[in-house]
Amino acid sequence: MHLYVLLPILAVMLLLQWRKVGMLVWLFVYWIGIFVILKYGFTTPVPQSVISLYMGIITFALIIYISWDKKRFRAVVDPLVAFMTRRRYTVPLVLVVVLIPSLVATSVYLSRTAPVQAPFFARTVHPATPASISAFSTDYDLATLDNPLRPLESDDPQAFARHVANGRAVYYENCHYCHGDDMTGNGQFAHGLNPIPTNFADSGTIAMLQESYLFWRIAKGAPGLPEEGGPWESAMPVWENFLTEEEIWEVVLFLYDFTDQRPRAREEVH
Ligand code: HEC
Repeated sequence: MHLYVLLPILAVMLLLQWRKVGMLVWLFVYWIGIFVILKYGFTTPVPQSVISLYMGIITFALIIYISWDKKRFRAVVDPLVAFMTRRRYTVPLVLVVVLIPSLVATSVYLSRTAPVQAPFFARTVHPATPASISAFSTDYDLATLDNPLRPLESDDPQAFARHVANGRAVYYENCHYCHGDDMTGNGQFAHGLNPIPTNFADSGTIAMLQESYLFWRIAKGAPGLPEEGGPWESAMPVWENFLTEEEIWEVVLFLYDFTDQRPRAREEVH
């Protein structure tokens, strides 16, 4: 939560409590306050569709709350009726009547005349791998780094299957939100992200990559991208902060196992 959003709203509410304002003002303050908190109050942005859903529920709840009790209902409706019928409010009323349609018209106009955006495209270019990275307080030389669990595939298939199963758990606990249940990059958060999450099911992604590359990208996430990989702000989290080194290698195994692909072989270094 962002306290600098939450605290001013609470302060306004306290002030209103103290000034004993009418029900109508409270309605506005609740509605706008909740909207502002949903939109700006969370460190992780809330998708617009979720905000609309919540605001719909809040609107209904507020309508039920005021219409439940006659006194509350009058406290909201009376000032509105007075505003619309009393002579001394004629000028503000005309202003409001003109202002609301013009605001809607302006926002429609602005949304229609927005500059044409480049089409939504799947990213296929992978940034060049750095020579070495440091993660888990260790320095890894990416040119020689291999998945320590890969040899088990031939040496101990049972242990290998166990690691793949752990990788599956890691994936469905952490990754499917973005990369999708079926790894096609269409998780429920994907439509809010640009660049979009990588589609691992595509034969042009992980089959072209070495496991050390995946280890790097998973451990270091979006901030691990070198300059030439930019200038995007990817949502890929820094998994070094949440997973163990072994879990990362396990999820890498699972990515290949699930999509039935093989990692790119390492070029022989002579
Ligand atoms: C919040 C959304 C999100 C989550 C959760 C997420 N990713 Fe990503 N991931 C992305 C995005 C967006 C990209 C593409 C941009 C980039 O390369 O940083 C990406 C890229 C990647 C890449 C780089 C692929 C390439 O071809 O360069 C790998 C590997 C990856 N993710 C693995 C994972 C794994 C494993 C997990 C779970 C432990 C995970 N991701 C969870 C959003 C996410």
